[in-house]
Amino acid sequence: MSSLPMTAVRTAVEAKEDLRAQIDAARLPKHIAIIMDGNGRWARQRFLPRIAGHRMGARTVHEVVETSARLGLQALSLYAFSAENWKRPKTEIDTLMELLREYIKKELEEIHRNNIRIQILGHYELLPAWVQEDIEQAIRVTGKNTGMVLNVALNYSARTELADAFQSILKSNQQNRNLEITEQMIAEHLYTKGLPDPDLLIRTSGEMRVSNFLLWQIAYAEIWVTDTYWPDFTARHLMQAILDFQKRERRYGGLGRGGV
Ligand code: IPE
Ligand code: IPE
Ligand code: MG
Repeated sequence: MSSLPMTAVRTAVEAKEDLRAQIDAARLPKHIAIIMDGNGRWARQRFLPRIAGHRMGARTVHEVVETSARLGLQALSLYAFSAENWKRPKTEIDTLMELLREYIKKELEEIHRNNIRIQILGHYELLPAWVQEDIEQAIRVTGKNTGMVLNVALNYSARTELADAFQSILKSNQQNRNLEITEQMIAEHLYTKGLPDPDLLIRTSGEMRVSNFLLWQIAYAEIWVTDTYWPDFTARHLMQAILDFQKRERRYGGLGRGGV
């Protein structure tokens, strides 16, 4: 082997370590939410079928989950399939489900070993039965883990989540005619109950929209958008996003440092 590739590998590893060293561990985001976008465009750029992009995207998921757990995040939420994605051709949807199953089969052991707990956000009971079995196994196997919570959004819609929350509040307060709905009550009936809201929302592929993802929970999230397509996203991008997050000044409607 020539020395050039080895140098390149070393440089990449050094760059990653360098970024990691700059992160202030005491001020990590507690919860990162990611809209994983651009698989289709990544493939088109290479004259490949869209599904090749999804396949590469699954590798990115591996790297991002591993890095997030190592960094010590409390929660990571990944938007994998939206309730609107059913509009896509059946062949693409079928392959996405197949990839999801492959991902669980391949990664479950390592996820479990890393003490990660898997949760699903969304109506996954409407997914094909065979993939539901794998999902349920993943939930069951990791159910008692105490490390990072990995939320996978499947057949997810934030508006449906809110409608579900209101419905569930009504159901559990049937006797109360003077029910007063509070913000806390809503938060406690969301799919993400018990978790801190995402403080950082990442979207890949340059799109400046939230596409019906965690609308309630991202009220005060810092947004970080990269032009990089999801299959090209790496641990380095994730750490860059965290570093940029740590430089931001979060005001929550108040005044900034120094009163301006
Ligand atoms: C994101 O990539 C993956 C899913 C939505 C399932 P896309 O498939 O949306 O890729 P683009 O946006 O067409 O490039
Ligand atoms: C958002 O990406 C949904 C997921 C990442 C699963 P889309 O590609 O479906 O979103 P739009 O259509 O660009 O808003
Ligand atoms: Mg897209």
